[in-house]
Amino acid sequence: MKRIGILTSGGDCQALNAAMRGVVKGLSTSGDTLEIYGFYDGYKGLIYGNYRYLTAQDFSGILTKGGTILGTSRQPFKQMRVPDENGLDKVEAMKHTYHKLNLDCLVILGGNGTQKTANLLREEGLNILHLPKTIDNDIWGTDITFGFQSALNIATHTIDCIHTTAASHNRVFIVEVMGHKVGWLPLHAGIAGGADIILIPEIPYDIEKVVEAVNRRTRQGKGFTILAVAEGAISVENAKLSKKEFKEMVNTSKYPSVSYDVADQIAQKTGCEVRVTVPGHMQRGGSPCAFDRVLCTQLGAAAAQAIEDKDYGYMIAMVNGQTTRVPLSEAAGRLKTVDPDCQLVQEAKKVGICFGD
Ligand code: F6P
Repeated sequence: MKRIGILTSGGDCQALNAAMRGVVKGLSTSGDTLEIYGFYDGYKGLIYGNYRYLTAQDFSGILTKGGTILGTSRQPFKQMRVPDENGLDKVEAMKHTYHKLNLDCLVILGGNGTQKTANLLREEGLNILHLPKTIDNDIWGTDITFGFQSALNIATHTIDCIHTTAASHNRVFIVEVMGHKVGWLPLHAGIAGGADIILIPEIPYDIEKVVEAVNRRTRQGKGFTILAVAEGAISVENAKLSKKEFKEMVNTSKYPSVSYDVADQIAQKTGCEVRVTVPGHMQRGGSPCAFDRVLCTQLGAAAAQAIEDKDYGYMIAMVNGQTTRVPLSEAAGRLKTVDPDCQLVQEAKKVGICFGD
């Protein structure tokens, strides 16, 4: 008999259901009787004892379904040790729910913040496994996170669509791509979508270099230019600001996001007509792509194997095409960023893509 808890936490993405299905299907082949408790809305469900007893049947037919059947919410790691408005100790409450249900293991699907809390629960003595989810692909210790490829397809499709209208109107277009503070998604989508300029947080941009790249295309007789701009892109000047100064600058800025600032400056300095497109949360929506379905089936099966082995305290990662158990103690709190000197960036530059540096 195995009693497993499962929850999805943080921003959603396309392949959460596919991953949960992988875990449950993987466990179902072991011949053991299975009790599954699904916690609603991430850690909230664990804190407040909001859960449901589920059977393997509940995880059937959800491979292609986007979102999460359990719901999710953001519960910042920093707030975990802070009592709630009624004075409830959240960590103790989570431990209480876990022990009350006599769980063998809690499977937690989520990104960086979620992983930090997963590690905290491990330190508190719970049997934890973490599956790396995020469209940002910024979790240290795994080559890829699920959600990334699905979001990449949507961001790329957006740039593809922008191409035709940009060409018809001879306009400069900025497509703002998600990715939080890292540039994996805009970098890959920009290259896949044939963007002329890619701005990512890891390579602070000089607006004069960006303008130069737009003008160069105009001189070459190219009527339009497409920029893939990370939501976290930052100028050379702003990169020098302290955290506090940067926050203040963002709060007082007249622009809703960095893309509009870049757009304004390009328009003023080149005289071109500039438009901004923000696909936003669309990038996290819809059904998972084939790559993510395969990835989640593998990660889910590998998590089930770890549960059968009673080997806990890991993120189930994908490293060099192999599923691997990475200690949560090593991974938690570390961010995987784009190396500005990596081969992909160098090769993108070689084909003429400008990074604003
Ligand atoms: O981490 C995933 C992500 O989509 C980021 O790319 C983005 O910055 C953030 O979540 C948006 O968060 P929210 O859904 O809370 O607006």
